[in-house]
Amino acid sequence: MAINLISKLLLFASLTLATATQSPGCGKPLPKAQQPAGGASHKVQFKQTNGTPRTYLIHIPKGYSSDKPAPLIFSFHGRGKTASSQEELSQFSNEKWNPDGIAVYPQGIENAWQGAPYSKGVDDIEFVTDMIDHITDRYCVNPKRIYAAGKSNGGGFTGTLACSALSSKIAAFAPVSAAFYIPLPKDTSVCEPEFIDIPCKPSRSVPILEFHGSQDDTIAYAGGARSGECLPSVARWVKAWSVRDGLGTCANETVLYGGKVRKWEYGGGKVTGYLTEGLGHAWPSLEANGDNPNGTYFDATPVIMEWFGRWSL
Ligand SMILES: *[C@@H]1O[C@H](CO)[C@@H](O)[C@H](O)[C@H]1NC(C)=O
Ligand SMILES: *[C@@H]1O[C@H](CO)[C@@H](O)[C@H](O)[C@H]1NC(C)=O
Repeated sequence: MAINLISKLLLFASLTLATATQSPGCGKPLPKAQQPAGGASHKVQFKQTNGTPRTYLIHIPKGYSSDKPAPLIFSFHGRGKTASSQEELSQFSNEKWNPDGIAVYPQGIENAWQGAPYSKGVDDIEFVTDMIDHITDRYCVNPKRIYAAGKSNGGGFTGTLACSALSSKIAAFAPVSAAFYIPLPKDTSVCEPEFIDIPCKPSRSVPILEFHGSQDDTIAYAGGARSGECLPSVARWVKAWSVRDGLGTCANETVLYGGKVRKWEYGGGKVTGYLTEGLGHAWPSLEANGDNPNGTYFDATPVIMEWFGRWSL
């Protein structure tokens, strides 16, 4: 009797484990309107829980199969940009760099994301929560391998997600040239980028990777006042993640490309920051891209993909 109960419990536990790496979309054909796997990205319209109509672009890789759970990568555009400009900029639909993952480019309301001073009253955390449910129900996804990246305001929002309850659903976070806005405390009007308290309540120890340019005149690496709020210094923001994750304040520094690029790795790289000399407010890319007509020393996207590959829930 007791043994029977135990074996039932064990069977239940093993079934739960077996299904934990598959989403409800596994075994289902691609949605009717969806472009075939490997085709152009496809625009999806739906309503988030609070009724707001939303859209996202989705790219299904050539090798997609409904019985092979795929990683899912979100890429969030900068302020004033669009889902399709972010696809072009971040290149997660480029199968040379992302052969297996489903790439999703959500569209922000008024082309902006929650967490910035100019996007108050928008619940994009709910939007992402709803997209995860919507996508994992329609496509075969590995729920342990959902990732988020973004540029500028979209990078700041990637940081907002890492600090939210979604840190338990998203395995790793890669903000690029990110704007980590913090409202000024009520008793002061002074922004102190090296001292301002960085509010953040993740539900676990979270992998973080940030890229920044030394010549970023929009979101300065050193931080400072902007749009009535305060940006912490990026080096400090990265170090604060290491401390929050229990990895301490010591990093290994690697000098790359003849000293033009520096990388700081905390906890063996679980928290990593890159600084590129001479680069502006840009997504690092060897070729010219929408951010930078000159290109820079390396491509961030394959670095992000390799690093994402190290983390799963
Ligand atoms: C620095 O690198 C060494 C050698 O790979 C490793 O053992 C150590 O954990 C790293 N330290 C940090 C802070 O990542
Ligand atoms: C690109 O290179 C040219 C020539 O060196 C320089 O004048 C320009 O400022 C650069 N643009 C950016 C965005 O770095």
